[in-house]
Amino acid sequence: MNTAELQQAFLDIFNQEADATFFSPGRINLIGEHTDYNGGYVFPCAITLGTFGAARKRDDQLLRFYSANFEDKGIIEANLDELVNDPAHDWANYPKGVLKFLKEAGYTIDTGMDLYVYGNIPNGSGLSSSASLELLTGIVAEELYGLILERLDLVKIGKQTENDFIGVNSGIMDQFAVGMGAENQAILLDTNTLDYELAPLDLGDNVVVIMNTKKRRELVDSKYNERRAECEEAVRELQVGGVAIETLGELDSQSFDQYTYLIKDANRIKRARHAVLENGRTMQAYEALQAENIPEFGRLMNASHVSLEHDYEVTGLELDTLVHTAWEQDGVVGARMTGAGFGGCAIAIVNKDKVEDFITNVGQHYRDVVGYDAEFYVAEIADGAKVLSRKD
Ligand code: GLA
Repeated sequence: MNTAELQQAFLDIFNQEADATFFSPGRINLIGEHTDYNGGYVFPCAITLGTFGAARKRDDQLLRFYSANFEDKGIIEANLDELVNDPAHDWANYPKGVLKFLKEAGYTIDTGMDLYVYGNIPNGSGLSSSASLELLTGIVAEELYGLILERLDLVKIGKQTENDFIGVNSGIMDQFAVGMGAENQAILLDTNTLDYELAPLDLGDNVVVIMNTKKRRELVDSKYNERRAECEEAVRELQVGGVAIETLGELDSQSFDQYTYLIKDANRIKRARHAVLENGRTMQAYEALQAENIPEFGRLMNASHVSLEHDYEVTGLELDTLVHTAWEQDGVVGARMTGAGFGGCAIAIVNKDKVEDFITNVGQHYRDVVGYDAEFYVAEIADGAKVLSRKD
C-alpha cells in the first residue's frame, strides 16, 4: 500500500484527512529461538511485510479504530478514559493497551484519535503481527501527540501491552525487532542487558525464503507458557543446588554439563539444554555472518532446528516437513523454524537462482504430506516502525 492509497482509505472510512501515515514491519528470527525469556541472545530482523496505518488526532476523548483486515468489525469505538481489555474490541485491544501504558508512563495523551490499519502479514503466521500493531500504535501516538520518547521505551511498552493487557507471556524479541530494525540489517540482541548490535545481513548469492505452514493457530500460547515454566523450574533447581544464576543464558555448555545432574526431570533437562546451546549457537552465527562464512551460518540454523524439534519440542509435522524437505534441496544453505513454533513459519537460506525450484519442490512435498498448500515469500529486510508521510 502506498501513502496515497492509505490517505484515501482513511478518508473513505473517517471522512476526514489523516494527519500522517505510518508503517510498522513484522519480523523473522534468524536464530536464537526461545532464548529471549531465558536471558539469552536473539538474532531477528524486521521485514517488509507489516502493518500500514493512517491516523488523525481528535478533539474529544473518542478512539475510533478501523482495520481493513477485519472489515466485518467495522469501526470499533473506545474511550480514552476507559482503557481496559474488552473482548468485544477484538484487535483494537492492542492499540488500547499501548495508549494505556503510554499514559501510565506519564506521556500526555489528552485527546482521542481515528486510526486506520491494514496489515499484509499473513494471518496467524507467527511473523509478529501483534508486535507490529503495538509499535505502529506507539509511533502514531508519538507523532499525533508530539511525544518525545526513546524507541526502547516504546519497545518495552509494546511488550508490556502483550504481557499485561493481552495476557501473552512473551519475551522482548518481537517488539525489539519491529521497533529497532534497519534495512538489510539483522539485530543481535542480548535480552539480559538489552545491549544490541546491527549486523549487515549479507548472504552473498542467497536470499531468505519464508515458508508458511498455514497451520491453524492452536495451543501456541499454552504450550509457550509451559516451556517457559519448565525453564524457570530448571533455573530454580540449579539455584537450589547452589548455582548462582538468574537465567539459563548465564550458562555455557561446559557449566551446563557440570550441573545438569541438579535438574531432576528428563524433559526439563532437554528444555534447559536447548536454551543453553541455542544461546551459544546464536553468538556463533553472528560471528559466522561477520566472517562471511555463510555455510557455517546455515549449519548453525540446521542445528537450531534439530534442537527445537527434539529437545525443546516446539515444531510438529508441518514445520518439520518444510524444514526437512528444504534441507534436501539444491542450493539450500540452511533452514529452521522461526518464532514460537507449533505452526507459523520456517525460513531457509537459498541460492537466488534456485528459489523457483525450491518453492516448487518443497511446496509439492508439503502438499503430499500435510494435505494443503504452504506459502512462500522471499524476505526483504526492512527498517523498524516509521512515519511514511505527513499532511502538509
Ligand atoms: C514468540 C515470542 C518471542 C520469543 C519467540 C520464541 O515469538 O513472542 O518473545 O519468545 O516466540 O523465540
